Amino acid sequence: MITVNLGMVQSKQIQKKGMKSMKDVLNERYRMETKLGHGGMAIVYQATDLMLERTIAVKLLKEDFSSSPAFQERFKQEAKAAANLSHPNIVTIHDFGLDQKRLFIVMEYVPGTDLKKHIKESEQGLSIENASRLFIQACAGVGYAHRAGLVHCDIKPHNMLITPDNRLKVTDFGIARALASIKPDEITNAIWGSPTYFSPEQAAGTPPSPASDVYSLGVVLYEMVTGRLPFPPSNPEQLALDHRHKDPPSPREFNPRISKELEKIILKVLSKEPSKRYRTADQLGRIMINFTQSKKQEAQDRRSPHTYHLDYSPLAKKEQAGLDWITILVGLLALIAVGGLIPFWMWVYFQVNP
Ligand SMILES: Nc1ncnc2c1ncn2[C@@H]1O[C@H](COP(=O)(O)OP(=O)(O)OP(=O)(O)O)[C@@H](O)[C@H]1O
Ligand SMILES: [Mg+2]
Repeated sequence: MITVNLGMVQSKQIQKKGMKSMKDVLNERYRMETKLGHGGMAIVYQATDLMLERTIAVKLLKEDFSSSPAFQERFKQEAKAAANLSHPNIVTIHDFGLDQKRLFIVMEYVPGTDLKKHIKESEQGLSIENASRLFIQACAGVGYAHRAGLVHCDIKPHNMLITPDNRLKVTDFGIARALASIKPDEITNAIWGSPTYFSPEQAAGTPPSPASDVYSLGVVLYEMVTGRLPFPPSNPEQLALDHRHKDPPSPREFNPRISKELEKIILKVLSKEPSKRYRTADQLGRIMINFTQSKKQEAQDRRSPHTYHLDYSPLAKKEQAGLDWITILVGLLALIAVGGLIPFWMWVYFQVNP
């Protein structure tokens, strides 16, 4: 009964909006409008949900892959994993479906751009302040997934969407896995994430952990503040070797505005050994919040020179100088007093013993 009624509503709406063909409407509900972009396995469209009359984004699996059970499985997994995550820094999944043998995911439409394009638009990387503000949001989204027991496994700037008012949302929990579901025998032939951003352990084919996402976030942060990647683009085999064995060049070499403190954080996050990084994205986020707050405090101190901090040291010196003079004066008085008493006691002595 409900289905029939909904169908009537949809067809009326479709007629009203002047649709050319039903082929452009998935499951008689999602009207595809503009192509937003594409990745390795899917095309993303801006679309309208005719039922709820709202703008959404639809990710449609490419036709070549729609028949492959392996890709279908990956696609389904993406929808299921992300559908349970509800956080302001994660793209919300609304629906998942199959239309004429083509799989699709319906998700929140995020106006704006993605982080990869945003970095490319800026010549020498983003300003430290802007990069930190965006990066802290990325850590909050990924950290929330970590708390929910998920590893993203494919952290890269293409999967971070940025709204015009600088809000960041992480998307594509494509190969995200419930930690408990990662089995050692699944790992050998699996491709975990993108070779440009994946962690040394992913490159070695061992199970990823939240610390693997932390490493990939480190690569993203490196790129945000330098405008470069820690390891130059190359074939996947070479990149895997670089991530596993090569030390990344100092980010300060490419951008002198990066402080030693920030460089230390980036290089720690890019440690080859997972236990030497921050354990989760939440922890990394907290470190970055502390870093930005200390930078803000320093800037504030520089702007107002009469602060307690700047005044403290000369005052201490003045006090020390004053104390020295008093000591010398007291010493002199004591000397005079003692010196003056000696003839007095001698006079008393000779009076008693003439
Ligand atoms: N929810 C969304 N709202 C707005 N634009 C989006 C949305 N999701 C994706 N896009 C756009 O579509 C582009 C392609 O996304 P897609 O996930 O297919 O490719 P990718 O992340 O580059 O590669 P991969 O296949 O590895 O995921 C993104 O870069 C982004 O610009
Ligand atoms: Mg993507």
